[in-house]
Amino acid sequence: MKILAVSSSPRKDSNSGLLAQAVLDGAASRGHSTELVHLTDTVTAPLRDCRSCRQDDGTCSIEDNYEQLVLQKVLSADAIVFATPLYWYGMSGQLKIFIDRLFCYIKSDYPDCESVREQLVGKRMVVTISSEESYPGAVSSIVAQMQEFARYLHSDLVGVVRGIGNTRGEVEHDPSRPLDQAHDLGTRLFEERYTDYRIDTPRSGVVWPVPLG
Ligand SMILES: Cc1cc2nc3c(=O)[nH]c(=O)nc-3n(C[C@H](O)[C@H](O)[C@H](O)COP(=O)(O)O)c2cc1C
Repeated sequence: MKILAVSSSPRKDSNSGLLAQAVLDGAASRGHSTELVHLTDTVTAPLRDCRSCRQDDGTCSIEDNYEQLVLQKVLSADAIVFATPLYWYGMSGQLKIFIDRLFCYIKSDYPDCESVREQLVGKRMVVTISSEESYPGAVSSIVAQMQEFARYLHSDLVGVVRGIGNTRGEVEHDPSRPLDQAHDLGTRLFEERYTDYRIDTPRSGVVWPVPLG
């Protein structure tokens, strides 16, 4: 399986990026292929008004590497790890721009929109977040948005790993050991139990059956 990490911190040696790399390392230890990209190397401009921005053939006129990232890496990934610092109780602007600009490729004006739509669904997703503050509610808007983003794309948000730290690499000293949590999640990325019940979902009531004997 292919796992792509999209790191959105402007710092290359970022806390959220370290957490994402730990997920990748866990996945790589199970034989999966992994890659981490830095959004600051890739995405230089926010979404504009597509009506005036699209070229005559329906493609995006923003000249950066976003299209390459989406068409060559995002679509083919089986799982995507989104890494973001907590900025003002939300995700980084870079990650928000990455999500916003997907719009240009799924809208019917884009020539290959059908193909993009087909390939954009059915992924496993993980979010890694680093923040200075530790109270749970500080990151709730990020978790809520990514949950809805995954739901819209018929994808499964299988895990959120949060590390507390401020200076570069400081999540390493977080006593809750988020780097270990991230690595562990990476090892179970495709086996991780994901459930989202409805009233009529058949279920036994036992979540973790005890092996006989
Ligand atoms: C613009 C900006 C806004 C921030 N806002 C918050 C915040 O609302 N709450 C918080 O706990 N930390 C906040 N921080 C601190 C970062 O979340 C923290 O340093 C984090 O570890 C950075 O992650 P990174 O190394 O992945 O960039 C902010 C930092 C910056 C630069």
